[in-house]
Amino acid sequence: MGRAGFDIVRSTDNRGGVDDFIPFEATVRAARAAGLSVGDYIDEVMNGTPGATRSTIDELRGRGVYADGPRTLLEIGPGSGRYLEKTLQECSPQRYEIYETAAPWAGYLVETFGVVARPTEGSSLAPTPDASVDLVQAHKVFNTVTFLCAVRYFHEMARVVRPGGRIVFDVMTETCLDPAAVGTWVREGGSGHDSFPAAMPRAVCVDLFDSLGCTLESSFLAPLGVATTEVLVFARKP
Ligand SMILES: C[S@@+](CC[C@H](N)C(=O)[O-])C[C@H]1O[C@@H](n2cnc3c(N)ncnc32)[C@H](O)[C@@H]1O
Repeated sequence: MGRAGFDIVRSTDNRGGVDDFIPFEATVRAARAAGLSVGDYIDEVMNGTPGATRSTIDELRGRGVYADGPRTLLEIGPGSGRYLEKTLQECSPQRYEIYETAAPWAGYLVETFGVVARPTEGSSLAPTPDASVDLVQAHKVFNTVTFLCAVRYFHEMARVVRPGGRIVFDVMTETCLDPAAVGTWVREGGSGHDSFPAAMPRAVCVDLFDSLGCTLESSFLAPLGVATTEVLVFARKP
């Protein structure tokens, strides 16, 4: 192999996810040393945005997302679990399913929070039955994946949510992309991940979910990298 120009080396870090998004072992170790939960460590220390996750959860609570006490939750791409951890402070589900491509993070979430990790093929929620979930969510995922991956997941989210249930996710829509924001991304964006940040037209989401029986209830902006992303809250028609 060496003569052919290849070396076989043992991988020493447990980076996971489509974009090697956050190294698992180093982050968990650093959070423990700082005396913070992994989620708070990422917000406060790694991202320099203390309270960022909490503010989105507070917005969702204000919009009644947890008011009915969702019993079955599903999250796509929970990663470190920073939204998962805070969601569990708002409600006490009987079942919390995750679909996560980064195996080390998925294992950590199963051990730490008792969630159920489903086999994650990449854009399908096939193991989850139709109309079986009260709250389906994904945070900071659909601005890191391709258009096709996102819209395939959108179809699946509409399939698994039960009538009256909710779907919550963020996308970088045109609301977040005025010329000043685009300029900021041009000057300061780019963390080496080719697929980040991916944009998604707002009307595509609203029209698609409407065609799948889900109505846009509300939306708000949240921080994303050097600018913002738009959180959309849909309700499945009863
Ligand atoms: C930018 S991170 C966001 C993580 C977490 N939601 C947060 O906001 O801290 C994107 C996450 O989505 C996961 N991911 C990427 N592609 C995915 C896919 N096709 N299906 C499920 N998870 C995916 C990555 O492994 C990573 O955990």
